[in-house]
Amino acid sequence: MTESVALAAFAHGLPKAELHLHLEGTLEPELKFALAARNGIELAEKTVEEVKATYDFTDLTSFLAVYYPAMQVLQTAEDFEDLAWAYLLRAKEQGVVHAEMFFDPQAHTSRGVPFEAVIGGYRRAIVRAERELGVSGELILCFLRDFSAEYAMATLMEALPYKGWIAGVGLDSDERDNPPGTFSAVFARARAEGFLLTMHCDIDQVGSVENIRAVLTEVGVDRIDHGTNIVEDPDLVALAKARGIGFTCCPVSNSFVTEQMKAEEIVGLMREGVRVTINSDDPAYFGAYVGDNYVALAEYADLSHTDLVQLAINSFAASWLTPARRAAYIDLVEKYAAAHGVALPA
Ligand code: ADE
Ligand code: ZN
Repeated sequence: MTESVALAAFAHGLPKAELHLHLEGTLEPELKFALAARNGIELAEKTVEEVKATYDFTDLTSFLAVYYPAMQVLQTAEDFEDLAWAYLLRAKEQGVVHAEMFFDPQAHTSRGVPFEAVIGGYRRAIVRAERELGVSGELILCFLRDFSAEYAMATLMEALPYKGWIAGVGLDSDERDNPPGTFSAVFARARAEGFLLTMHCDIDQVGSVENIRAVLTEVGVDRIDHGTNIVEDPDLVALAKARGIGFTCCPVSNSFVTEQMKAEEIVGLMREGVRVTINSDDPAYFGAYVGDNYVALAEYADLSHTDLVQLAINSFAASWLTPARRAAYIDLVEKYAAAHGVALPA
């Protein structure tokens, strides 16, 4: 067995939480065709290869231009359930024992699909995964930042009856010209309703550092999605570290929407003691689920087995689990490391 095979197997088996995963970004072409057939939708592409040929992304905007139209095949609660179930099966194979999953209700309500169908379908898959796979799941409702603050607030109101099924709220879609401050009142209301808060601070955006500062100091988030441009401001790094803010990084996704994985930033923050985590973002589009992301980063940045253990521990430390469940999962990681003769992080 070569060292890299051993590391890959270790990374895949490592118990981990996935904290940055868009359920709509798990739509594999095969499922897309099956759902299109079930719903009587004719797709422009006729083969998996033709679908994959459209995955020609140079930045976030060009990715989103492929991502949203694909969602037309998602129409009924059963479709959303099948999508989430397929992801949870894949996640289990990648060592995931807990997943906090984004969903984009406005990408569906804006085309006439009821909110209830979206959340009801996702919830059924989560309940089934807990029972049949031993994988726990939570939902994070993301507002689309290229829609208005009023529409975000209306979506929050629509979500309130389902509060028990939603751990927190986030903000995603195109950051360009859509700064976090636009949604301050929506996030303040979400906080008052008891939701935890996270926001995307995508990579290399115009105003990335100002947006990260606003997210930390004005909105007061619990976590940041991506956010590695924070390295440009050491004072902000110190603030994030002191507050124990989790960063949900997605190296393979980064390599699609920018020119690099941003490994230097991710690993540098980890070495400074910032709560950095590794995740897949939109794995059907970027061709890598979460374990694959651990391996890609480890191979590129020459990480040790102990570094991977640190990343898995971080994934639970930054999760929205109760302290007791966090501690139990970290114990599981430590036992896994010990069973493989791998030293724990200092
Ligand atoms: N929606 C799905 N993936 C996203 C990402 N990485 N950034 C912003 N919005 C998204
Ligand atoms: Zn994302």
